[in-house]
Amino acid sequence: MEKIKFRNDLLFGVATASTQIEGGDTNHTWYDWTKDGNKTKDGSTSLRANSHWNNYKAHIDLMKELNLEIYRMSIEWSRIEPTEGCFSDEAMEHYIDEINYLKDKGIKVLVTLHHFSNPIWFEKKGGFKLKDSPLYFARYVDFVVRHLNGLVSEFCTINEPNIYAINCFLYGEWLNEEKSFSSCMRVLRNMTRSHIEAYKVIHNVISDSKVGIALNMNNFIPKNKKNLFDKIETWFFDRCFNKLMSYSMGYGKYILPLGIKCKKGVFFDYFGINYYTSNLVHKGKLEVDPSWDTNNLGWGITPFGFDKIINKVHKMFPDKEIYITENGTCDKDDSFRAKYLYDHLEVLSKYDFIKRYYHWTFMDNFEWKEGESACFGLVKYNYEDGTYELRNSALFYKELIKKRYMDLDMLKKYMGEKDD
Ligand code: BGC
Repeated sequence: MEKIKFRNDLLFGVATASTQIEGGDTNHTWYDWTKDGNKTKDGSTSLRANSHWNNYKAHIDLMKELNLEIYRMSIEWSRIEPTEGCFSDEAMEHYIDEINYLKDKGIKVLVTLHHFSNPIWFEKKGGFKLKDSPLYFARYVDFVVRHLNGLVSEFCTINEPNIYAINCFLYGEWLNEEKSFSSCMRVLRNMTRSHIEAYKVIHNVISDSKVGIALNMNNFIPKNKKNLFDKIETWFFDRCFNKLMSYSMGYGKYILPLGIKCKKGVFFDYFGINYYTSNLVHKGKLEVDPSWDTNNLGWGITPFGFDKIINKVHKMFPDKEIYITENGTCDKDDSFRAKYLYDHLEVLSKYDFIKRYYHWTFMDNFEWKEGESACFGLVKYNYEDGTYELRNSALFYKELIKKRYMDLDMLKKYMGEKDD
């Protein structure tokens, strides 16, 4: 049986986001937007989530049990700065305790400073549409990073500005519910500037830190490879979704249609890929090839696209380390998650410039507009009573981390059993 081996400098872990797991915070935009119960698929809000804020120790104990080596977590801006200019030492202490607990367990932490949610006061002022938004963001980042000096050396400034801006300002499906191309571009420009300011602030405080970006990357494919329109549209999608923010956040280069301003610099120490799927492009729309397997949300399961995206990013930034800051799937019955892991990890095992793999996600959590209905967790979570249990895919992940290889026998052992 062929063994797929993993290098020792490739570390395995999971990624989460504060809004999706912590529960209890009513000061951020996601709670504000969903509180009336008619915005998410199941009417849920982020209020209970995984009650991680109160139960982080038990959750981290379970991470340790799974042999996880690294953990990507985020800090909730609205907890740290609940009202403009007033910073909460208590909330900061809580995060410090949590990070110390992780460190005691030997789990290395990467901190994300913004993951889709804003304090309500900041949003009321205009959020990332505001010209001064980079100053507000940098002030919060400065506070956090000064407190984490000596504890954390790896940071991600802003998670997936492309998804955030498109969903909130172009498709009108999240929070701001706007459908405006110019608002979307404006927010992307300000998020770029915010990232650059944050990058400088973090390096100023912790000079040997590693600061990067995490972008959602989609493998776009022309539906008909001989059709010139499909090919042009695919080029356009790739440019707008994958490349725009990579170059602007990475080098301060505002390529069209974002703008033409060009600042010189290098504003990332690693590039974080969040990869989930591929799409066919046809007549301005994204489609799923009927021959692909799909997950519970109808997203194509396309490990070949992972390979394409890794190569694309490596070609764009050949001298940079790549982290897989997110990769995972929605699989309530856990009937294909282990296979998804196997196929995607097989791809990344070929590349020695990939240093981290953060699976999305640890336990089922508040999945934005899908609410509590979507199950991305290695761990199954019961929202009614707060209990949880390991899925088979978690046991598969646990074993491969310990052995530093996987093979088809191992995969078979964990496949196919329903957990409901
Ligand atoms: C986001 C996560 C989200 C995941 C699954 C990513 O785009 O960063 O917050 O839960 O996708 O939809």
